[in-house]
Amino acid sequence: MPKVPVKLVSWDEIVDWTRGLAGEIKGSGWNPQVIVAVARGGYVPARLLADFLDVTNMLSVQSQHWTEAAKAEERAILKYPYKVDLKGEDVLVVDDIVDTGETLRLARDYVRDNWNPGTVKTAALQWISSVAKFKPDYYLIEVRDWTWFQYPWTRLEDLKDFLKRILREDERLKQEFSMELLERVFKEWYGVSPGDFGFYWDLAISDLVKSGFLKEK
Ligand code: ADE
Repeated sequence: MPKVPVKLVSWDEIVDWTRGLAGEIKGSGWNPQVIVAVARGGYVPARLLADFLDVTNMLSVQSQHWTEAAKAEERAILKYPYKVDLKGEDVLVVDDIVDTGETLRLARDYVRDNWNPGTVKTAALQWISSVAKFKPDYYLIEVRDWTWFQYPWTRLEDLKDFLKRILREDERLKQEFSMELLERVFKEWYGVSPGDFGFYWDLAISDLVKSGFLKEK
Protein backbone atom coordinates (compact mmCIF):
# COMPACT_ATOMS: atom_id res chain seq x y z
CA MET A 1 0.00 0.00 0.00
CA PRO A 2 1.37 3.43 -0.89
CA LYS A 3 1.81 5.94 1.92
CA VAL A 4 -0.06 8.55 -0.09
CA PRO A 5 -2.60 7.00 -2.48
CA VAL A 6 -2.67 8.97 -5.70
CA LYS A 7 -5.18 8.77 -8.51
CA LEU A 8 -3.68 10.19 -11.67
CA VAL A 9 -6.54 11.88 -13.53
CA SER A 10 -6.52 12.30 -17.33
CA TRP A 11 -8.04 15.15 -19.32
CA ASP A 12 -10.49 12.66 -20.86
CA GLU A 13 -11.70 11.68 -17.38
CA ILE A 14 -12.19 15.35 -16.55
CA VAL A 15 -14.42 15.84 -19.59
CA ASP A 16 -16.39 12.62 -18.88
CA TRP A 17 -16.82 13.41 -15.20
CA THR A 18 -17.87 16.99 -15.82
CA ARG A 19 -20.39 15.87 -18.41
CA GLY A 20 -21.74 13.39 -15.84
CA LEU A 21 -21.94 16.13 -13.21
CA ALA A 22 -23.78 18.38 -15.66
CA GLY A 23 -26.22 15.50 -16.18
CA GLU A 24 -26.90 15.35 -12.43
CA ILE A 25 -27.58 19.07 -12.31
CA LYS A 26 -29.84 19.07 -15.38
CA GLY A 27 -31.66 15.99 -14.10
CA SER A 28 -32.53 17.79 -10.87
CA GLY A 29 -34.48 20.37 -12.85
CA TRP A 30 -32.51 23.28 -11.39
CA ASN A 31 -30.90 25.71 -13.85
CA PRO A 32 -28.20 28.07 -12.62
CA GLN A 33 -27.79 31.43 -14.37
CA VAL A 34 -24.35 32.12 -12.93
CA ILE A 35 -21.40 29.81 -12.25
CA VAL A 36 -18.77 30.72 -9.67
CA ALA A 37 -15.43 28.90 -9.93
CA VAL A 38 -13.55 28.41 -6.71
CA ALA A 39 -9.93 29.16 -7.61
CA ARG A 40 -7.85 27.47 -8.41
CA GLY A 41 -9.15 23.90 -8.58
CA GLY A 42 -12.63 24.83 -9.68
CA TYR A 43 -11.67 26.73 -12.83
CA VAL A 44 -11.61 23.89 -15.36
CA PRO A 45 -14.66 21.98 -14.08
CA ALA A 46 -16.58 25.26 -13.80
CA ARG A 47 -15.74 26.27 -17.37
CA LEU A 48 -16.73 22.84 -18.73
CA LEU A 49 -19.95 22.87 -16.69
CA ALA A 50 -20.77 26.30 -18.11
CA ASP A 51 -20.42 24.80 -21.59
CA PHE A 52 -22.51 21.70 -20.84
CA LEU A 53 -25.18 23.71 -19.00
CA ASP A 54 -25.20 26.60 -21.50
CA VAL A 55 -24.35 29.17 -18.83
CA THR A 56 -22.51 32.28 -20.01
CA ASN A 57 -22.13 34.17 -16.72
CA MET A 58 -19.01 33.30 -14.73
CA LEU A 59 -17.15 34.71 -11.75
CA SER A 60 -14.49 33.40 -9.44
CA VAL A 61 -13.45 33.57 -5.81
CA GLN A 62 -10.12 32.35 -4.51
CA SER A 63 -9.75 30.52 -1.25
CA GLN A 64 -6.57 30.31 0.75
CA HIS A 65 -5.62 28.01 3.60
CA TRP A 66 -3.77 29.09 6.66
CA THR A 67 -2.85 27.40 9.90
CA GLU A 68 -3.91 29.20 13.03
CA ALA A 69 -1.03 29.81 15.40
CA ALA A 70 -0.94 27.24 18.22
CA LYS A 71 -3.57 25.19 16.43
CA ALA A 72 -2.92 22.33 14.07
CA GLU A 73 -6.14 23.13 12.27
CA GLU A 74 -6.26 24.61 8.79
CA ARG A 75 -8.83 27.30 8.07
CA ALA A 76 -9.97 28.62 4.72
CA ILE A 77 -10.32 32.33 4.03
CA LEU A 78 -11.14 34.25 0.85
CA LYS A 79 -8.03 35.78 -0.63
CA TYR A 80 -9.59 38.74 -2.48
CA PRO A 81 -13.08 39.38 -1.12
CA TYR A 82 -15.20 41.68 -3.31
CA LYS A 83 -18.87 42.54 -3.72
CA VAL A 84 -21.15 42.24 -6.71
CA ASP A 85 -24.93 42.35 -7.14
CA LEU A 86 -26.26 39.15 -8.71
CA LYS A 87 -29.83 40.55 -8.58
CA GLY A 88 -31.42 37.37 -7.35
CA GLU A 89 -29.92 35.08 -9.99
CA ASP A 90 -29.41 31.39 -9.19
CA VAL A 91 -25.78 30.49 -8.63
CA LEU A 92 -23.76 27.30 -8.84
CA VAL A 93 -20.47 27.36 -6.90
CA VAL A 94 -17.98 24.84 -8.30
CA ASP A 95 -14.78 23.23 -7.02
CA ASP A 96 -12.87 20.17 -8.19
CA ILE A 97 -13.04 18.20 -4.94
CA VAL A 98 -14.64 18.38 -1.51
CA ASP A 99 -12.02 17.06 0.91
CA THR A 100 -12.47 18.67 4.34
CA GLY A 101 -15.27 20.75 2.84
CA GLU A 102 -14.01 24.01 4.35
CA THR A 103 -13.31 25.68 1.01
CA LEU A 104 -16.58 25.06 -0.78
CA ARG A 105 -18.66 25.87 2.30
CA LEU A 106 -16.79 29.14 2.79
CA ALA A 107 -17.26 30.11 -0.88
CA ARG A 108 -20.96 29.19 -0.79
CA ASP A 109 -21.55 31.17 2.41
CA TYR A 110 -19.67 34.17 1.04
CA VAL A 111 -21.65 34.27 -2.20
CA ARG A 112 -24.94 33.77 -0.33
CA ASP A 113 -24.23 36.50 2.24
CA ASN A 114 -22.57 39.12 0.03
CA TRP A 115 -23.66 38.88 -3.61
CA ASN A 116 -27.46 39.10 -3.43
CA PRO A 117 -28.13 35.80 -5.24
CA GLY A 118 -31.29 33.74 -5.55
CA THR A 119 -30.65 30.08 -4.81
CA VAL A 120 -27.01 29.09 -4.24
CA LYS A 121 -25.96 25.49 -4.78
CA THR A 122 -22.59 23.72 -4.81
CA ALA A 123 -21.01 21.11 -7.07
CA ALA A 124 -17.75 19.14 -7.18
CA LEU A 125 -16.43 16.21 -9.19
CA GLN A 126 -15.37 14.32 -6.05
CA TRP A 127 -16.70 14.23 -2.52
CA ILE A 128 -14.53 12.48 0.08
CA SER A 129 -17.37 11.38 2.30
CA SER A 130 -15.17 9.83 5.02
CA VAL A 131 -13.52 13.15 5.94
CA ALA A 132 -15.72 15.95 4.57
CA LYS A 133 -17.74 18.04 7.00
CA PHE A 134 -19.74 19.41 4.08
CA LYS A 135 -21.66 17.58 1.35
CA PRO A 136 -22.05 19.40 -1.96
CA ASP A 137 -25.53 19.60 -3.48
CA TYR A 138 -24.13 17.91 -6.61
CA TYR A 139 -21.15 15.56 -6.94
CA LEU A 140 -20.32 12.80 -9.37
CA ILE A 141 -18.06 10.44 -7.41
CA GLU A 142 -18.21 9.63 -3.71
CA VAL A 143 -14.72 8.71 -2.48
CA ARG A 144 -14.59 6.65 0.72
CA ASP A 145 -10.87 5.95 1.10
CA TRP A 146 -8.95 9.23 1.15
CA THR A 147 -7.01 9.68 -2.08
CA TRP A 148 -5.02 12.52 -3.61
CA PHE A 149 -6.63 13.26 -6.99
CA GLN A 150 -3.82 14.39 -9.20
CA TYR A 151 -5.75 16.58 -11.64
CA PRO A 152 -4.09 17.51 -14.93
CA TRP A 153 -4.06 21.25 -14.12
CA THR A 154 -1.66 20.74 -11.19
CA ARG A 155 0.56 18.06 -12.72
CA LEU A 156 3.82 19.97 -12.31
CA GLU A 157 2.99 21.60 -8.98
CA ASP A 158 1.90 18.30 -7.41
CA LEU A 159 4.84 16.38 -8.82
CA LYS A 160 7.28 18.88 -7.33
CA ASP A 161 5.46 18.68 -3.98
CA PHE A 162 5.50 14.86 -4.10
CA LEU A 163 9.24 14.89 -4.79
CA LYS A 164 10.02 17.49 -2.13
CA ARG A 165 8.17 15.43 0.44
CA ILE A 166 10.12 12.21 -0.19
CA LEU A 167 13.38 14.15 -0.38
CA ARG A 168 12.64 15.59 3.05
CA GLU A 169 11.17 12.50 4.68
CA ASP A 170 12.66 9.33 3.21
CA GLU A 171 15.91 8.24 4.89
CA ARG A 172 17.18 6.59 1.69
CA LEU A 173 17.26 9.97 -0.04
CA LYS A 174 19.17 11.85 2.66
CA GLN A 175 22.59 11.16 1.01
CA GLU A 176 23.64 10.73 -2.59
CA PHE A 177 21.25 8.49 -4.51
CA SER A 178 20.65 7.24 -8.04
CA MET A 179 17.74 8.22 -10.27
CA GLU A 180 16.64 4.59 -10.13
CA LEU A 181 16.34 4.73 -6.36
CA LEU A 182 14.42 8.00 -6.53
CA GLU A 183 12.00 6.42 -9.01
CA ARG A 184 11.56 3.33 -6.83
CA VAL A 185 10.95 5.35 -3.65
CA PHE A 186 8.48 7.57 -5.53
CA LYS A 187 6.50 4.53 -6.69
CA GLU A 188 6.48 3.09 -3.16
CA TRP A 189 5.16 6.32 -1.63
CA TYR A 190 2.55 7.26 -4.19
CA GLY A 191 1.59 4.03 -5.99
CA VAL A 192 2.12 5.66 -9.39
CA SER A 193 5.22 5.50 -11.59
CA PRO A 194 7.34 8.46 -12.66
CA GLY A 195 6.75 7.25 -16.24
CA ASP A 196 3.01 7.88 -15.84
CA PHE A 197 3.79 11.62 -15.64
CA GLY A 198 5.35 11.75 -19.12
CA PHE A 199 7.41 14.90 -19.79
CA TYR A 200 6.33 16.38 -16.45
CA TRP A 201 8.84 14.17 -14.61
CA ASP A 202 11.88 15.74 -16.29
CA LEU A 203 10.34 19.22 -15.93
CA ALA A 204 9.84 18.71 -12.20
CA ILE A 205 13.37 17.38 -11.71
CA SER A 206 14.93 20.28 -13.61
CA ASP A 207 12.83 22.82 -11.66
CA LEU A 208 13.99 21.26 -8.39
CA VAL A 209 17.60 21.41 -9.57
CA LYS A 210 17.18 25.09 -10.51
CA SER A 211 15.64 25.94 -7.16
CA GLY A 212 18.46 24.15 -5.33
CA PHE A 213 16.28 21.39 -3.89
CA LEU A 214 18.21 18.74 -5.83
CA LYS A 215 21.83 18.60 -6.95
CA GLU A 216 22.91 16.70 -10.06
CA LYS A 217 26.19 14.75 -10.11
N1 ADE B 1 -7.32 19.44 -2.71
C1 ADE B 1 -7.71 19.21 -1.45
N2 ADE B 1 -7.82 17.88 -1.21
C2 ADE B 1 -7.48 17.25 -2.38
C3 ADE B 1 -7.39 15.89 -2.77
N3 ADE B 1 -7.67 14.90 -1.92
N4 ADE B 1 -7.01 15.62 -4.04
C4 ADE B 1 -6.73 16.64 -4.89
N5 ADE B 1 -6.79 17.93 -4.58
C5 ADE B 1 -7.16 18.25 -3.33
